[in-house]
Amino acid sequence: MEIPTVGLRNGVSLPLVGLGTFGMLGPPCVGAVESAVRNGYRLLDTASNYGNERSVGMGIEESGVDRHRVMVQTKIAGGDQGYDEAINAAKESARRLGVDHIDVYLIHWPCPSLGKSVQTWEALVTLSAEGFVRVPGVSNFKEPHLQALFDATGVWPAINQIQCSPALARTELREFMAQRQIFAQAWHPTGRKEGLLHDPSVLAMARKHGKSPTQIALRWAVQQGIGVVPKSSHRGRQSENADIFDFSLDEADLRALAELDRGEAAARDSDVVEEY
Ligand SMILES: NC(=O)c1ccc[n+]([C@@H]2O[C@H](COP(=O)([O-])OP(=O)(O)OC[C@H]3O[C@@H](n4cnc5c(N)ncnc54)[C@H](OP(=O)(O)O)[C@@H]3O)[C@@H](O)[C@H]2O)c1
Repeated sequence: MEIPTVGLRNGVSLPLVGLGTFGMLGPPCVGAVESAVRNGYRLLDTASNYGNERSVGMGIEESGVDRHRVMVQTKIAGGDQGYDEAINAAKESARRLGVDHIDVYLIHWPCPSLGKSVQTWEALVTLSAEGFVRVPGVSNFKEPHLQALFDATGVWPAINQIQCSPALARTELREFMAQRQIFAQAWHPTGRKEGLLHDPSVLAMARKHGKSPTQIALRWAVQQGIGVVPKSSHRGRQSENADIFDFSLDEADLRALAELDRGEAAARDSDVVEEY
């Protein structure tokens, strides 16, 4: 199984599909990562807050696949925001992952009440210039949060991981990002919590294409160049989630999916939601 990649603004190629790992811990996490990498996944999404960086690193090692062919992205917790704190947090994450550099490093949430996202971003710019981080990015940043980083440093993040699926299309935010070549990667890309997978039009599309409703949701993203990091601890579902490059949604499908967008107000609001 070969997963296509996309070129980011800084020239690094990132797989369009990666494995999400939130909620997976210990040996089950090691096993899930090992099976995903053996199956062809070349990108793992974790975070220091998930408490599983060590297991993700062990899973890659146990897969037997050359470490340099697999990318890991991890995230800075709110409690580690600040310039010196973020530099230290990066070293700690790398130690837990068992790597000498971090492929993709994201500020997990902007946490505006802390007022430290700019200093944190300055640390990522430094780490990137030193080659310790290959792709500096953010997660859950809205337009003003992104603009503040650029205004302070003259550097846009290469990637913004956002809550996104046909049920939460985030059209305006993605347009802002596309104009600045900030790659959009979707978390919770299946939209199952929004009831997307039981929608009659999604079920009809799945029958029409001979695919599962989950594959319809994931195809919607990658067909427009949005990356996805679906989480599955199950080998068969991991394969299913990457098997989305042999069909296309047509105009009628895309129109029907556009009807299911609940709008920006239904997304988790990162001006309010803060995770430390
Ligand atoms: N940046 C952020 O703030 C943020 C926030 C949330 C999540 N994330 C990242 O994004 C990843 C994905 O988001 P998510 O975990 O919330 O949601 P998700 O990937 O959309 O859904 C995961 C759930 O769907 C099930 N599932 C996956 N594929 C399936 C399939 N083909 N058929 C049936 N069930 C399937 C999984 O169960 P099984 O494991 O049993 O298959 C799991 O319960 C996370 O793991 C994490 O890495 C980032």
